[in-house]
Amino acid sequence: EKSGYPHFMLKEIFEQPIALESVLVGRLKDGKPQIKEVRSLEGFVKNQMKKVYVVACGTSYHAGLAAKYFMNRYSDIDFDIEVASEFRYMNPAIDGNTLVLAISQSGETIDTLEGVRLAKKKGAYVLAISNVVGSTIPRESDAVLYLNTGPEIGVAATKTYTAQIALLYTLASQLIRWKGYENEELDEIMRTIEKIPELFKMILNETNGHMMELVKKYKNFKDMMYIGRVFGFPAALEGALKLKEISYINAIAYQAGELKHGPIALLDDNFPVFAIVPSGKLREKMISNIMEVKARGARVIALTPKDDLQTKKICDDYIDVPTVLEPLIPLVVAPITQLFAYYIAVQKGLDPDKPRNLAKSVTVE
Ligand code: F6R
Repeated sequence: EKSGYPHFMLKEIFEQPIALESVLVGRLKDGKPQIKEVRSLEGFVKNQMKKVYVVACGTSYHAGLAAKYFMNRYSDIDFDIEVASEFRYMNPAIDGNTLVLAISQSGETIDTLEGVRLAKKKGAYVLAISNVVGSTIPRESDAVLYLNTGPEIGVAATKTYTAQIALLYTLASQLIRWKGYENEELDEIMRTIEKIPELFKMILNETNGHMMELVKKYKNFKDMMYIGRVFGFPAALEGALKLKEISYINAIAYQAGELKHGPIALLDDNFPVFAIVPSGKLREKMISNIMEVKARGARVIALTPKDDLQTKKICDDYIDVPTVLEPLIPLVVAPITQLFAYYIAVQKGLDPDKPRNLAKSVTVE
């Protein structure tokens, strides 16, 4: 059932092109969103919806964060997001004019489920995003969008994470259109997302071959930091989460601009830094952050567009990322950080499919 792969995690990483195709089929065509499951929401969105609120945990939360930056780039629709274990004990500002997105791969995460119950009590319209048909969160929500990626067995979420982002971006583009915003770049992004399965095939093939060398060099470090800005931040959070959960390296993530407010004090030559460098206007900012980090003696691995020779020159190692518009960064960086975490775990003799202390579905608080 692992189709020749040594672990489910690796199989699921390589299934991403198919998973992305499955999640988008019938929902995005010629760059236009056409999600049938939300068709009945058009009136609510156009006439009533004042706010979108994401409730989720772990990796699903990271996908939600990418969606927040996406909505914000192309609209000024109010968008809030909270980790479900916090949300459920808060008094969130939601009402009958709020669309709550409950994102949960398993559909069974208890904190997210309690978040759904709270949101419903406050009168919100709750749309679940899940991979498991008939699971509890979709059952208790007003509507559901399934990821359709097939079961995910590895405890670490991989294919469902990128499928969540692709689906959330498509949904966001639908909401943005319904609210009457127009944006050329948005149309371009959606056309690229339609082709993202092909791009993933290329990234996976290119990265997989180079990974071992990097992994051998970095596997014995106890600490690692991932830094990025805006769309690079959820990518950093997710990269760090994958690494810590399966390789037990103390991997942490920060918005790069936060370094000088504290975390830079941690850095020395025992604390390598992954820097997610975009091609757009934030590139220069990331380059200055890399310089700051290097000045403390930390090694830098840059995830950088192929043609960015300047960044490649100043860092210790780099991994090529396709040159894409910034919103696509959480997508294109994911397979790279997943493969890095996977091979580190394997090199350390750990079972990436069954990390200690973790369960695939967290049904207790
Ligand atoms: C990390 C991971 C967890 C889950 C989290 C939420 O790789 O898998 O962080 O993302 O437990 O699970 P779901 O999405 O099932 O609610």
